[in-house]
Amino acid sequence: MKLAIVGAAGRMGRMLVKLGGGEVAYRVDLPEGYDKGIGGDADGVIDFSHHTAVPGHVSTAAALGIPYVLGTTGLTPEEQARVDAAAQVIPIVQSGNYSLGVNLLLGLVEQAAKVLGPEYDIEVVEMHHRHKKDAPSGTALMLAKAAQAGRGAGDFVFGRQGDIGERPQGEIAIHALRGGSVVGDHTVMFAGEVERVELTHKAQSREAFAAGALKAVKWAQGRRPGLYSMKDVLFSA
Ligand SMILES: NC(=O)c1ccc[n+]([C@@H]2O[C@H](COP(=O)([O-])OP(=O)(O)OC[C@H]3O[C@@H](n4cnc5c(N)ncnc54)[C@H](O)[C@@H]3O)[C@@H](O)[C@H]2O)c1
Repeated sequence: MKLAIVGAAGRMGRMLVKLGGGEVAYRVDLPEGYDKGIGGDADGVIDFSHHTAVPGHVSTAAALGIPYVLGTTGLTPEEQARVDAAAQVIPIVQSGNYSLGVNLLLGLVEQAAKVLGPEYDIEVVEMHHRHKKDAPSGTALMLAKAAQAGRGAGDFVFGRQGDIGERPQGEIAIHALRGGSVVGDHTVMFAGEVERVELTHKAQSREAFAAGALKAVKWAQGRRPGLYSMKDVLFSA
């Protein structure tokens, strides 16, 4: 298989190049010495770059008919619309987190939200290394949406400051911590009157994401055009 890695010089890109080994044919990135585009003979693209880079590369892949695995987070609605348009033409797997553990956690969070009900306050807390450029993490948003789906309601609140008054029942709050070299920690807390349930995932290496993305690009081969999730990759045939 011939892979193109977009963002190959970055933290995730370097891990993908290492794990992909001889299958990596194109290392696409901005610094000198890297490829400046996806080669027409690539069988799959894996993109862990910057949100502003996504529309250009995904449109190229659509024009060339190459399946795309998108790990880059923090897309604007306009950038997401370009991804959605490309998914009419090629299979695209898009996930804010490619690890097996987080994809398991999404199901557990949805179930917990359903069972515990609105008298349990939901708070999502994430921590990442100081270099991360977007906040909150794509994973925190996915977890918040899973909680919202389980509960069937809930407005999102991003952080708190000032004279905010009492916490309204039913809101789902998301908090982003940044510092050091943390690869990615996420906790979803269900805080009730008499007990508290906390579901936590801690990524110990970027390999957890890279291995999932490589699995996704193989899964995408020969699929119909469309926008797929990591749930499709892991839990459907
Ligand atoms: N979905 C997941 O499982 C997951 C896991 C980790 C990180 N991420 C996301 O992946 C992205 C990259 O994370 P990182 O920690 O590797 O960041 P990073 O800053 O270390 O690397 C990003 C790379 O993208 C390159 N880049 C920027 N513009 C480009 C362009 N136009 N064309 C080609 N390359 C370009 C940069 O030069 C850099 O080398 C972020 O959006 C991050 O949130 C997703």
